[in-house]
Amino acid sequence: MARPADEGVVQAVKEAVDIVQVVGEVVNLRRTGANYLGLCPFHGEKTPSFTVSPARKFFHCFGCGESGDVLTFVMRHQNLPFWEALKQLAGRYHIPLPERELSHQEREADNRRQELYLVNQRAADLYHDLLLNDPRAALAREYLAKRRIPPEIITRFRLGYAPERWDFLSKALPDTPPELLVEAGLIVARDSGGGFYDRFRQRVLFPIINHSGRHLGFGGRALSDGQQPKYLNSPETAVFTKGRTLFGLFQAKEAIRRTGRAVVVEGNFDLISLVAAGIGEVVAPLGTALTPQHVRALKGYAGEVVLLFDGDAAGVKAALRAVPLFLSARLPARVVVLPDGHDPDTFINQYGPAELTTRLEAALSLPEFAVEQLVARHGLGLEGKGRILEELRPLVAAIDDKDLQRSLFISHFSRTLGLTPEQLGQALAGGLGLPPAPPVPAPALPRQGIKLTDSERHLLAFLVLYPACLDDFVEAGLLEVMASPAAFAIVEAMREAARQTPDGGAERLLDYLAGPEERDFVAAQLIDAPTNLPEREREAAEKIGWLLENRRKTRTRELTTRIKEAQLQNDQALVLELLTEKKKLSLGGQG
Ligand code: UTP
Ligand code: MN
Repeated sequence: MARPADEGVVQAVKEAVDIVQVVGEVVNLRRTGANYLGLCPFHGEKTPSFTVSPARKFFHCFGCGESGDVLTFVMRHQNLPFWEALKQLAGRYHIPLPERELSHQEREADNRRQELYLVNQRAADLYHDLLLNDPRAALAREYLAKRRIPPEIITRFRLGYAPERWDFLSKALPDTPPELLVEAGLIVARDSGGGFYDRFRQRVLFPIINHSGRHLGFGGRALSDGQQPKYLNSPETAVFTKGRTLFGLFQAKEAIRRTGRAVVVEGNFDLISLVAAGIGEVVAPLGTALTPQHVRALKGYAGEVVLLFDGDAAGVKAALRAVPLFLSARLPARVVVLPDGHDPDTFINQYGPAELTTRLEAALSLPEFAVEQLVARHGLGLEGKGRILEELRPLVAAIDDKDLQRSLFISHFSRTLGLTPEQLGQALAGGLGLPPAPPVPAPALPRQGIKLTDSERHLLAFLVLYPACLDDFVEAGLLEVMASPAAFAIVEAMREAARQTPDGGAERLLDYLAGPEERDFVAAQLIDAPTNLPEREREAAEKIGWLLENRRKTRTRELTTRIKEAQLQNDQALVLELLTEKKKLSLGGQG
């Protein structure tokens, strides 16, 4: 992988960073011996095959073959360019980065983002302080009390209040350039006559904080009934994208990890009401339908998701729309639809948290719920079935491989629809006179183990850990023993790694290998081995001895064959010459 960086800095960052901590923030890791194991964030899996080695400072997934160091992890997981990942980690672990490494533009953009986070945070502090202490916020405090939001929740979510003023913020932040406040969406430039006015006025504010605690913007709830819109959010800015942000995730992270699940509600008040009632693992999209990015973000923390929808048609529709998202992310999801007219907030206030918890526990799986809804809507007559199949097809197509999940899905639906699984499979693939299904992406080929001979395996297992021995091994005849393509690929990658990053650790080899089987093999050696083998010298000498002996035996065999041939051709001179050579070889072998 090309890395436009000073290896020294990269090494320093990798040394300083705790890979288990960084990965552990987004993957639920559990200790297994010297390593950690969790569900891979890069592909869907039910059984953990994502391994992190703290000693070697790398990760490898034995399911999908992704591997690399902590920088690779941050790049892939957050979809960041190399420099951004490096900077993020360096910043966190207080490692100075040489300034020149960032392009001018990148630095500018990054500084701007930092400024936006900060100005949002300052505004949040001001609004929060106002809500707690200012006489102008008396109505807002009353409002929250009436909605049964206790003080700890106000503090935990840093709720705020924007007073009924057009210039509260500009007055409160006199040294902040108005352009920055405009860019953050906190104030708005007047159409005419110049000047600015506050975006949020007379609203209870919910600061929107990303998973790492940065302030991105606000959601603002009108205080009075006549005020429109009911909710006003920050506009999309360089730091805030609705479709990627989940309100409450920052505060819910720990609870989600602890309980293994995330509850998704629609509204901000739903969320804080649940938290106030002791259900902490809650997030809410900001008035948008769930996106694949939302689901991916949840997958980093939760083993399953429970969608908690309002009891209205929109809630049901939202649930159906979510089916393909969760299926293709392979994150199990269940659904609770509340009684008509209720949202989680009103429900919990009327029936109490225990009743809600019961419903959460009893939630139907999302696919099961989808079928129920479809049957309720279309009936199970011939025509109804046709309609249901039409609606199911995109859902099934979203499953990205033909594994257990797909067949479970089909077997479940076929029973309900009164079809055999084969019939349903066919119907969904375009049979029964229905239009053809959109192509299902090819399933990933099941991985075969790496194909190596025993000697290749032994030699490579050692060399992976001690790449410095490569030259000596090659000299002693390593390449004469390597016969499998995989073995060649690994040796080639070792040579490349030695050329490009001569000072790197053994795990850098993973960056130079394309084949997942080869990476599996290399990762397995790295993971299982101690970082410092006491017997290393002896083992190296032994293996080199074995290589030399192997070379002698092979040559001897060759000579024996050639001697036989020479004898057949009666070429006495050649026979004599070859015999001398063979004798020399055997003496050399003993000496
Ligand atoms: P709801 O209208 O269900 O709000 O919108 P709610 O949370 O139940 O609010 P209360 O209980 O009436 O106070 C759900 C979510 O949709 C977004 C908000 O994020 C809200 O929390 N929304 C709603 C908007 O962005 N704009 C709106 O005008 C309304
Ligand atoms: Mn509500």
